[in-house]
Amino acid sequence: MTSTFPTISISTERLGLRPLDEDDVPALADMMNDEQVTAWTAVPQPYDEAAARRWITEHTPAERTSGRGLDLAVTEFLTQRLVGVVQLSKTNWHVRSTELSYIIAPWARGEGYASEAALATAQWLFTDQKFERIELRTAAGNTASQQVAQKIGCISEGVLRGACIARVRAEDGTWSEVRTDYIVWSLLPEDLDGGGEHFAESGGFTSYTDWN
Ligand SMILES: CC(C)(COP(=O)(O)OP(=O)(O)OC[C@H]1O[C@@H](n2cnc3c(N)ncnc32)[C@H](O)[C@@H]1OP(=O)(O)O)[C@@H](O)C(=O)NCCC(=O)NCCS
Repeated sequence: MTSTFPTISISTERLGLRPLDEDDVPALADMMNDEQVTAWTAVPQPYDEAAARRWITEHTPAERTSGRGLDLAVTEFLTQRLVGVVQLSKTNWHVRSTELSYIIAPWARGEGYASEAALATAQWLFTDQKFERIELRTAAGNTASQQVAQKIGCISEGVLRGACIARVRAEDGTWSEVRTDYIVWSLLPEDLDGGGEHFAESGGFTSYTDWN
């Protein structure tokens, strides 16, 4: 059975998650031109505004309409600034499982935004979309991402040896690809038992039209 994710907005205590739109192009391009993003994600580098526009206008709608996934902008509730993105991909509608990843802009890191956005997305997937499994893959050296996975209650399931291509920067500033391991994490509905109450008090989810 194949399905698609709805256009959705999710609100938390400090954040709003919503569909990306073309106004996000400059902030998205800015966010992606970053060492940590280059090192730990497959985002093309350098990442210019044309790439950001293509991602928002072509890739993101195609992911949703094909049923493969969903890309959400993460914004600061008070300022409405784009602080990050949350991605769902490789969705299996029969198993009701999907892979979750996140990027937070360098200037907004260390505030707990990735954890808050990921937890809210997980709550929505389990409660509203009746998903049964969320998977995360973090490169073996990506400590910050592992901290996020752990903080939201994910269980580490094992290692995919040599499955990840990361990038490292040499002293002369050039980047090269390096093979490393992936750590696989999963989150099941029961892993959030209790933890969901906090989210329910501080936010919720609505369809995008309602939210506007
Ligand atoms: C991973 C990422 C999304 C985290 O965003 P964030 O909003 O800073 O995350 P949070 O604030 O929710 O949590 C980060 C945690 O990692 C910790 N951390 C950050 N850098 C760290 C490091 N180098 N070593 C150890 N811990 C680190 C922080 O202290 C924090 O933990 P704490 O709350 O217990 O103090 C962000 O660093 C990022 O965008 N990285 C580049 C893209 C990426 O790697 N995405 C994940 C792909 S799987």
